Amino acid sequence: MSVNLRGRSLLKLLDYTPSEIRYLLDLSKNFKDLKRTNTPHKYLKGKNIALLFEKTSTRTRCSFEVAGYDLGMGVTYLEPGSSQMGKKESIKDTARVLGRMYDGIEYRGFSQDLVEELSKYAKVPVWNGLTDEFHPTQMLADLLTIEENFGYLKGINFTYMGDARNNLGNSLMVACAKMGLNFTSCAPKELWPNKELVEECQKIAKDSNCTITLTEDVKEGTKNADVIYTDIWVSMGEPEEMWAPRINLLKPYQVNDEVMNNASKNAIFMHCLPSFHNRETTIGEKIYEKFGISEMEVTDSVFESKRSKVFDEAENRMHTIKAVIYATLC
Ligand code: CP
Ligand code: NVA
Repeated sequence: MSVNLRGRSLLKLLDYTPSEIRYLLDLSKNFKDLKRTNTPHKYLKGKNIALLFEKTSTRTRCSFEVAGYDLGMGVTYLEPGSSQMGKKESIKDTARVLGRMYDGIEYRGFSQDLVEELSKYAKVPVWNGLTDEFHPTQMLADLLTIEENFGYLKGINFTYMGDARNNLGNSLMVACAKMGLNFTSCAPKELWPNKELVEECQKIAKDSNCTITLTEDVKEGTKNADVIYTDIWVSMGEPEEMWAPRINLLKPYQVNDEVMNNASKNAIFMHCLPSFHNRETTIGEKIYEKFGISEMEVTDSVFESKRSKVFDEAENRMHTIKAVIYATLC
């Protein structure tokens, strides 16, 4: 059956079938070719989109903006705290106002319920640009990057290290289960994803003929991995006081040369970014002063190595977001 995503929102990958995800990945490749060959593709001229951010962003915001311009659209960026939403106006009212003016709305914010509510009332496609629970547009870029490196997705051994119950830990488990990658969550038990989501992903994985594994053991969890993925240890919206307990819990789960050497011969390193791999940021420097560590979730040596695909991954945010906008608005 042919795939048609017109009018659909993208709130979480759980809502999409493997064929729909496949369709978006193939479309992304086409858009990447068009961009590389400098071929104009202003297919959505005359349409307008709003980008509503309640948390900061570099990649997601820039990807939506450039994708929108490349497609010939008008783009409005609403930075955190700059609209009436939340303080004077509810999500429901904001949705009904923006839905009258725009053809699509991107939202980055806190709980998943907020983006679901926005989508319920906007009457136009809503795209989740990250919530506390999920980051679906990041998943498409990650899948595309893996496929570009290995030529396939099914059967890839994928290991996520770190805070396995944050938006990335949850989303990667879903993405792998949907697309047939063997997913391992390598993290302390305190930070494992919630039981219901694990069980749901196990069911999906069974249909996709792949596995979901949770382990605290770094050697076992990273052995023969084709992809080693990590994320920052304290996510946006979490209090600063979380740094001390997280560093304590996650220090043994740092991605370093030993971890990469335990993985498969051709293993790649991935990270959604931003990343604390040196002291060249204000937070990185503060952490160094307080805790005496200059690298956190990944060492500088791995981050800067040939195995690191983090900037390909960042570029792919734009091509995949373009595919999502086009597929849902065309
Ligand atoms: N990976 C990602 O979502 O980056 P930004 O926070 O910069 O958008
Ligand atoms: N888990 C991170 C992802 C950033 C893209 C956060 O939510 O801050």
